[in-house]
Amino acid sequence: MQIDVFTLFPDWFEWLREQRHVSNVLASGSAITAIDPRASTPLSGRQVDDTPFGGGAGMVLRVDVMDAALRARYGCDGELVREKRRVIALSPAGRLLDEDLVAELAREPELTLLCGRYEGFDERIIDHMASETVSIGRYVLSGGELAAMVLIDAILRKLPGALGHEESAIEESFSAALEGNPEYPHYTRPAVYRGWEVPDVLLSGNHAQIERWRLEQSRARGDSM
Ligand code: 6GU
Repeated sequence: MQIDVFTLFPDWFEWLREQRHVSNVLASGSAITAIDPRASTPLSGRQVDDTPFGGGAGMVLRVDVMDAALRARYGCDGELVREKRRVIALSPAGRLLDEDLVAELAREPELTLLCGRYEGFDERIIDHMASETVSIGRYVLSGGELAAMVLIDAILRKLPGALGHEESAIEESFSAALEGNPEYPHYTRPAVYRGWEVPDVLLSGNHAQIERWRLEQSRARGDSM
């Protein structure tokens, strides 16, 4: 998968690329490219944002700047990019990210992520250049970058080569194998620590019983959400 991220903080994504589970996927042909709209801004002094019309606090990423950045990357008008690839603007007002959306996005060959900063984007970026907006929760971050990284992490671990064990992704939280519920609890050695014991069933060697117990635990967690 080819992921392009438009961000005023491109070096943040270098750290992401270096993480083992990410670099594993990148080694098998995927790419994360961070593109800085400052590099292609048509404004003087590397300006990319401006004060909001109507007044108010903060700065807004300009529509002409994003258009120029998309044109520099894709060689066409910013509004044509979303006809060729999915363009997601990260915004606290967007569609809430969940496992279904992650799975859907993981099937795309190419994705473009737009990160706003300060007070966000000029709304015309969303209306005319993005396919959709996505939020990672009902709280406000100071920019879309961390949300983009959350999205990228969740997507990449669905791709082949991300995890040590291919099976790890099948029976994980919110998967069909667990009926959409969170994952069951895990334990490892020591079997007893400061008197805190691992459930007997996990030490029983009875795989059918373990399977049943895990499904029950997962359902109980789902019920209490
Ligand atoms: Cl996508 N952006 C910002 N700035 N804040 C958020 C968010 C996105 N999702 C949750 N909070």
